[in-house]
Amino acid sequence: MWMFRPLGVYRPQSDTFLLARELCCDGIRGSRVLDLCTGTGLLAIIAAYAGAESVTAVDLEGRAVLTAWMNTRLRRVPVRVLRGDLFEPIADEVFDVIVANPPYVPSADAPRRVRGRAWDAGRQGRAMIDRICAHAPGALAVGGTLLMVQSVLCGVETTLNSLRRAGLKASVVARRTQPFGPVMRSRAAFLEAQGLIHPGQRHEELVVVRADRN
Ligand SMILES: C[S@@+](CC[C@H](N)C(=O)[O-])C[C@H]1O[C@@H](n2cnc3c(N)ncnc32)[C@H](O)[C@@H]1O
Repeated sequence: MWMFRPLGVYRPQSDTFLLARELCCDGIRGSRVLDLCTGTGLLAIIAAYAGAESVTAVDLEGRAVLTAWMNTRLRRVPVRVLRGDLFEPIADEVFDVIVANPPYVPSADAPRRVRGRAWDAGRQGRAMIDRICAHAPGALAVGGTLLMVQSVLCGVETTLNSLRRAGLKASVVARRTQPFGPVMRSRAAFLEAQGLIHPGQRHEELVVVRADRN
């Protein structure tokens, strides 16, 4: 699907598409959907096309928010686009489906430029994932589902255990192994030094975690 995407806004790619497939499989007709970390708004638009009752898209970056807003207007789909930090703009609303492709790339420094904020996520890559695991259970309606994509490098068991401790039924529902892209290649030495990859490893596995609230 063509998307308006100015420089500095995350280009939808393999992690977006892996998550999109699960979102479409999920039978979201009539659901209240929250797309956290929306970027171009592609996942929010897919949810709207799939018949969601309402769709809310959130991003921290003004440029992404404007981009998502334009893309939803160009397609004439009713998506509420909000700017803010993860769950902060939606206060105490609850959703039937929360979909998230957060930044999850391990990084030595805090992101200095807007582009880096699309993927940099602290030394273990878990800065955003841990916050989503902590807050998503409270933002899910009874019977609701969280779908989140991440790299195996930043600890899938940690994600699953955290969601299970919060009372959700969590499992991995999709996987894809791929060669490192340019960002991961440029960090290979750091990732090796952190013990996050084996020496010489230049591929990673992406997974979609699904967590259901009973
Ligand atoms: C990996 S991109 C995913 C974009 C889009 N969902 C996709 O799959 O193509 C992560 C997005 O998270 C946004 N982001 C980073 N920190 C955030 C935060 N604290 N709250 C909300 N969005 C954030 C970035 O601006 C970026 O658009």
